[in-house]
Amino acid sequence: MCGITGFTGKQPALPFLLQGLSKLEYRGYDSAGVTLVNSRKLKTWKAKGRLSELEKLLSRNLTQSCGIGHTRWATHGVPSNMNAHPHMNEEETISVVHNGIVENYASLKEELLAQGYHFQSDTDSEVIVQLLDSYYRRKPVMKDALMRTVKRLEGSYALCVTSIYEPNTIYVAKQESPMVLGRSEEGTFCASDAPALLEYTREILPLQDGQFAILNKDSLEVFDAKGKTVIPQWIHFPYDVQAAQKNGYDSFMMKEIHEQPSVIRETLRGRFHGSRVVLPIIDQLDVDWTTIHQTIFIACGTAYHACVYADILYRRYTGGLSSVIPASEFRYSNPAVDEHTLCVFVSQSGETADTLAALKLAKARGCVTIAVVNVLGSSIARQTDAVLYTAAGPEIAVASTKAYTTQLVLLHVLVLKLAELLQHRVRGITRIIADLKRLPEITEQALETEPEVKKLAHMLKDKNDAYFIGRQLDYPTALEGALKLKEISYVHADAYYAGELKHGPIALIEQDTVVTAIATQPEVCGKTISNIKETVARGANVILITNPDTDAKEFKYVVRIPEVTPELAAIPSAVILQLFAYYGAKEKGCDIDKPRNLAKSVTVE
Ligand code: M6R
Repeated sequence: MCGITGFTGKQPALPFLLQGLSKLEYRGYDSAGVTLVNSRKLKTWKAKGRLSELEKLLSRNLTQSCGIGHTRWATHGVPSNMNAHPHMNEEETISVVHNGIVENYASLKEELLAQGYHFQSDTDSEVIVQLLDSYYRRKPVMKDALMRTVKRLEGSYALCVTSIYEPNTIYVAKQESPMVLGRSEEGTFCASDAPALLEYTREILPLQDGQFAILNKDSLEVFDAKGKTVIPQWIHFPYDVQAAQKNGYDSFMMKEIHEQPSVIRETLRGRFHGSRVVLPIIDQLDVDWTTIHQTIFIACGTAYHACVYADILYRRYTGGLSSVIPASEFRYSNPAVDEHTLCVFVSQSGETADTLAALKLAKARGCVTIAVVNVLGSSIARQTDAVLYTAAGPEIAVASTKAYTTQLVLLHVLVLKLAELLQHRVRGITRIIADLKRLPEITEQALETEPEVKKLAHMLKDKNDAYFIGRQLDYPTALEGALKLKEISYVHADAYYAGELKHGPIALIEQDTVVTAIATQPEVCGKTISNIKETVARGANVILITNPDTDAKEFKYVVRIPEVTPELAAIPSAVILQLFAYYGAKEKGCDIDKPRNLAKSVTVE
């Protein structure tokens, strides 16, 4: 996720570019850059860090009236000046900003290196400008060169191109990454999202996948993948800037819940070849897998719950020995680990102090270390032997949602890979991989339960306690459902293994106690349902989250997940519980994005 702005018109471009980038910082903020154009040359400034670092480099009397800007959230190459956008060709005549992932960048780079091109950055995006340059040299018509370039790109992109050859023109292309266009008396605009445009215009045109646009001072042309002109459907944008940053939702948490289908798609991008998992980073590890005797999953909070899920899967898929432990315990537990131990660290921020300390201990003991992290170049990412990135983009709400489901997905892929390396056959692997690929659609369907979940959350209005139960792969979902609810609604919420209820917690159940039971695992579903009946008999209001075909006539409140292989049911179930927590917090009038006493990243012990 990155933010793009572009302007060409009758005014200096810089003020628009910078204010637009500031409105898009929620899309990324590890580095920023702009290119301004005049007829003789392109001038580019870049800075690592937040936009304010870039602003320090720029004088206010830069009057060029055409330019492009970018705020970055790193996916390939750490945050640095070199890796910041815009990227230029060697002669500095063409400049490009890109949002998305070029899956085949390595092979394109090889091809361009063979042609004599040089690369300055570690990004996938730089291949775009070099490829464009190579086509432009062959036939100096920018529209044709751009169309030929994007035909070669596999993956996702929203990109803007400007050059000295047409100093008042910006070329735009889009595939699976957002891009909106705008127009006013002052000129024409483009940006990754409408908030960047709203101070300047409310006349907005969302560009569609496969479309291109050519922006000039007082004209804007849209055309399709074949180069044929498209009649644009302009809309009058209804939201103010704040609402638009949240995509019309009333909180970042709700926006991020709804982003899950697309970030899961991004996280899975390029991870499969047919029915095989592709994780070259893991293949390249210098490890003799026959010497690995145990695997330990280590993290904090929500990421720890993702580890609980991975631990169960690991034992199921590899038949090997594994365990899961919160980082804050691991670091003080004098663990029996050595070079025969694989430690997997999971973190959204990559900066959590306890997880970092646990990682240092594991490294000191000689363990093999792998990280699953969201923030590229973060401390945990830098210090492990191999790192896999979730592609959740910046998560602004304190309560983790999209980071969690992308962790589940990526850990699932990692455990399948480990099973292959440990030479253990996973039963039903074809079905599992087919459903992993369907997860964006499955998550979309889970979001459709929102109206019914909202009604159910009403039962939390006057409640101070809630319980979540599940067995096997439903247990981490129960843990996460309880954490989400307590974090943002301050309802005291506990999670139990469903089979443990009768050993104590059932004493807490009384008339109208809210119990959420997750029962998606065929081998234990009937058992969990028996446990629920025990609570119903004591007056509990039970919400059952289960499969489409579970016989649940006896229960009043049932939410069904979409059809999915049981190993992946935790993903739609988690989405439903995120919605439940959100609407529970709304019932209580809580500040959803900034819950009391909590920080997004816990960098102290
Ligand atoms: O950045 P990390 O994933 O390492 O953070 C770990 C926890 O602090 C985090 O998951 C926390 O529990 C969230 N607030 C959960 O919503």
